[in-house]
Amino acid sequence: MNALILVGSPKGRKSASWMLGSGIGEGLRDRGVTVQYGMVHHELRSGEGTGKLLDLFDSSDLVVLAFPLYVDSLPAPLTRLLELVAERKDRTAAAGNPRLGVVVQCGFPEAHQCDTAIGICRRFAGFTGMRWAGALAMGMGGSLEGDFGRLPGGGKKILDALNKTAEALARGGDIPDEAKAVFARPLMPRWLYTLTGNLGWRLKMRKNKAQSPIGYRPYGQG
Ligand SMILES: Cc1cc2nc3c(=O)[nH]c(=O)nc-3n(C[C@H](O)[C@H](O)[C@H](O)COP(=O)(O)O)c2cc1C
Repeated sequence: MNALILVGSPKGRKSASWMLGSGIGEGLRDRGVTVQYGMVHHELRSGEGTGKLLDLFDSSDLVVLAFPLYVDSLPAPLTRLLELVAERKDRTAAAGNPRLGVVVQCGFPEAHQCDTAIGICRRFAGFTGMRWAGALAMGMGGSLEGDFGRLPGGGKKILDALNKTAEALARGGDIPDEAKAVFARPLMPRWLYTLTGNLGWRLKMRKNKAQSPIGYRPYGQG
């Protein structure tokens, strides 16, 4: 089986999307799947890179989109790639191939913020004749910086959900409901996420010598 993990964050290997996508990728590799990665923002900057991703898409049995939620949707280059895939007239892939899975996370605390983006991906799969394998979604993506070890409980539950997902996908199944449920659970109490998030913003402001108050709205009313 050939799998393609498409990372949809402009931060590349420093992103939460990479952490989660490569977590699934490692689990697939452990089970004998050939895994390739595509950095969508980087590749779509050139015709050569775009062509490479389109060819990889067509030659894969499984494609996993790993991306951050941007304005309730997918980052623009990833949307563009999906449009190009859908437009390709010479698609030779058999119906139901490749299978399409998603791992998405967002900055707000609630996983359900990702529902619209997941719906878009599911529609894309239906429209292009791919088999929809389901989606993992989580909120509080801002706490995924660096490594899983910094998460409460050493991130064991998330790692376990990624592993169960890889196991199911490697044997041709869909993302298990159990993994989806674990993934969607808040990583920490909401107040703690907000507190550390606000602190992080203030530290960034200080580092960048930002003068305006954090609530400054130059184009807002009042
Ligand atoms: C342009 C932009 C738009 C965003 N839109 C949303 C959004 O609509 N809802 C949300 O919960 N988070 C939103 N976020 C936050 C990201 O989803 C969040 O920071 C995520 O953890 C980044 O993942 P990454 O490290 O893979 O890039 C947005 C971030 C950016 C930069």
